[in-house]
Amino acid sequence: MNKLWLNGHVVPADQAKISVFDRGFLFGDGIYEVVPIYAGQPFLFDEHMARLERSLHAVSIPMPIPRAEWLQVIDALSDNIPEGSGVLYIHITRGEEFPRSHLPANDLTPTVFATLSPFTPPSGEPTPVRVSLLEDNRWLRCDIKSISLLGNIMGKLAAAQDGTAEPLMHRAGRITEGATCNYFIVKNNTLITAPADTLILAGITRDWILTLARDNGISVEERAFSIAELYDADECFLASSTREILPVAMVSEQTIGSGETGPITQQLIQYFRQSRP
Ligand code: PDD
Repeated sequence: MNKLWLNGHVVPADQAKISVFDRGFLFGDGIYEVVPIYAGQPFLFDEHMARLERSLHAVSIPMPIPRAEWLQVIDALSDNIPEGSGVLYIHITRGEEFPRSHLPANDLTPTVFATLSPFTPPSGEPTPVRVSLLEDNRWLRCDIKSISLLGNIMGKLAAAQDGTAEPLMHRAGRITEGATCNYFIVKNNTLITAPADTLILAGITRDWILTLARDNGISVEERAFSIAELYDADECFLASSTREILPVAMVSEQTIGSGETGPITQQLIQYFRQSRP
């Protein structure tokens, strides 16, 4: 990566500097967003921006630049993605403050940082993955896309130790989400996913899959579902901006359905790829 965006300027990556008193560094006091770009076009841009604004609002950080300016940031960094497909990473902290104080002053200037890195959109038949069932030990505002991600990182480490692609987390037997994705199951041709409450980050991909399913006559339920329902499912897949739809063959030692990509999952992958730029 050659260039990045820092506080209104394009800066060579090796010259970008922020203060050690930045509250993002000291407290993890900030919000982020990840926007996929296909062939030069951000996908579901307004939805990502709306989520960014919601998260900032929830933690009382002002939106430092207007929505449309992010399109200029993408343009300014476009040399980083010669093939045209990339991931825009946006990172906004409450700003720099000294002395260190949990209670922030209310006149801070947010630190605005963004990178644009190349991304190869999934293509061909995805290979179903194994994931690890783990207890969700994160905080209770997972709907906020906070840069404080220790719980997610601990989940990722545990899954990696178990040799799997991703954690699949639950709270007292109720499935929540992954460390970096949402989960869906299919039972008797109905698509089921956890509700968009404070226990999950409602993925933009998740919402788009629900729209595609409804538009194509697949019945959908957004509701809490249990480990028992997961193990009894016909199909399971995970979803995120960078992985799109990835079939899940096994959860820990349990095979889900046939262990192959199921027919509804296959259909949704097809609808998804047709719908993106
Ligand atoms: N992760 N849940 C969590 C905890 C996530 O971190 C993500 C995304 C999702 C899916 O959201 P979306 O469909 O909007 O990508 C769900 C991003 C990609 C990341 O952390 O890099």
